[in-house]
Amino acid sequence: MRQDDLFAEVDEHIGTLFGLDDSVLAATERSLAAAGMPEISVSPVHGRLLQVLALSCNAKRILEIGTLAGYSTICLARALPEDGHITTIEFDPRHADIALENIRSAGLKATVDVRVGGALDILPQLVAEGAGPYDLVFIDADKAPYAEYFEWSLRLGRPGTLIVGDNAVREGRILDRDADDESVRGIQRFNEALASHPGVTGVVVQTVGAKGHDGMALAVVGAG
Ligand code: SAH
Ligand code: DHB
Ligand code: MG
Repeated sequence: MRQDDLFAEVDEHIGTLFGLDDSVLAATERSLAAAGMPEISVSPVHGRLLQVLALSCNAKRILEIGTLAGYSTICLARALPEDGHITTIEFDPRHADIALENIRSAGLKATVDVRVGGALDILPQLVAEGAGPYDLVFIDADKAPYAEYFEWSLRLGRPGTLIVGDNAVREGRILDRDADDESVRGIQRFNEALASHPGVTGVVVQTVGAKGHDGMALAVVGAG
């Protein structure tokens, strides 16, 4: 068996074992293809990982950058207590509309605030509004400005905030020092910022599974 097939099959097994592919998430995943949107949500296993991480840091306020159809939003929101809240930022109004439908189907409309606009416009607005501090920030939008998203996450966080960055390895393309792909360069810059910032303790974990070889960056603020 090819390695990729093996990793995907193990993810299937874990998904079945833990009952991860429930009807709400399955419908959310289907809504992508139906609307001709890119099928780049986190996998069911990574969705559950986000939920576990949010639970482990007792998150009441979560910020997500990059909503798509709301798959990861729903996973994160499921970790919130009754009075918890997640703000999720999405550039494309069409994506935001589909996400809102999925979030409504998940019974999470009152928990989720979808902010439509470019993240580098919305993030300063959140600071100006006095939003936060967020207990967990999930960065998963366009890759080129990931390091800027990290800086805004610090401003909107507090000591103890968990910052999670999706797609931190990109099949190992981050090893290419001469990469001219702005996404790869963005992730390289983000990983370097995470590694060298004195105000956070972080790491990048490689991942395999249904979505191939990639990685999750994890960092805690103020634990340096
Ligand atoms: N977190 C989602 C996947 C997000 S895909 C999940 O796992 O379910 C990335 C999303 O970021 C896309 O919907 C894209 O439209 C959005 N995006 C891209 N550039 C953006 C920007 N500058 N600001 C906000 N959202 C952006
Ligand atoms: C892409 C973006 C993502 O956030 C992801 O998880 C996978 C792929 C992409 O832009 O190709
Ligand atoms: Mg991603």
